[in-house]
Amino acid sequence: MSTLVIYDSVYGNTEKIAQAVGAALGARVLKVADAAPADLQGCTLLLVGSPTHAFGALPNVKGFLASLPAGSLAGVRAEAFDTRFSAKTTPQPPKFLKLMADTFGYAAEKLEKQLARKGAQVIGKAGQFSIDGNEGPLSDGELERAVQWARSL
Ligand SMILES: Cc1cc2nc3c(=O)[nH]c(=O)nc-3n(C[C@H](O)[C@H](O)[C@H](O)COP(=O)(O)O)c2cc1C
Repeated sequence: MSTLVIYDSVYGNTEKIAQAVGAALGARVLKVADAAPADLQGCTLLLVGSPTHAFGALPNVKGFLASLPAGSLAGVRAEAFDTRFSAKTTPQPPKFLKLMADTFGYAAEKLEKQLARKGAQVIGKAGQFSIDGNEGPLSDGELERAVQWARSL
């Protein structure tokens, strides 16, 4: 099995998750700016991660998936993961944003839809990892939870 992790990260938290997941699975890990559609050749498990911004994934992560030819992920098992505000530790005023996010959604579920649209077999177990505040750090235990999540796929 050849596993590829593609991600982006602004403050480094999603990057930590991507690297931990990649190490647990013996996967190749690429920042989206360094990834090209050709990197998907021979990939049997694709994991795509992004911080949640404005209720969705970063534009370049969405853009990368959008740039893939139709049907190009046929036969590929895939899953998405994101980082997001924590319910417990988000201070005011971002607490208001947390409320909005719970209404309008997060990156991973939207990336799952994009993966499915390109023909991937989405596993249906999106990885959702929380951070404290806006810039992190990752909430306690999230790196370990990410490793367990990866192994469960
Ligand atoms: C411009 C901006 C918009 C954000 N929008 C959301 C959001 O809609 N929902 C959410 O849960 N977190 C939101 N956040 C918090 C980010 O998810 C958080 O900064 C990110 O998980 C940190 O990951 P990173 O270190 O990989 O960048 C936002 C952060 C920024 C800077």
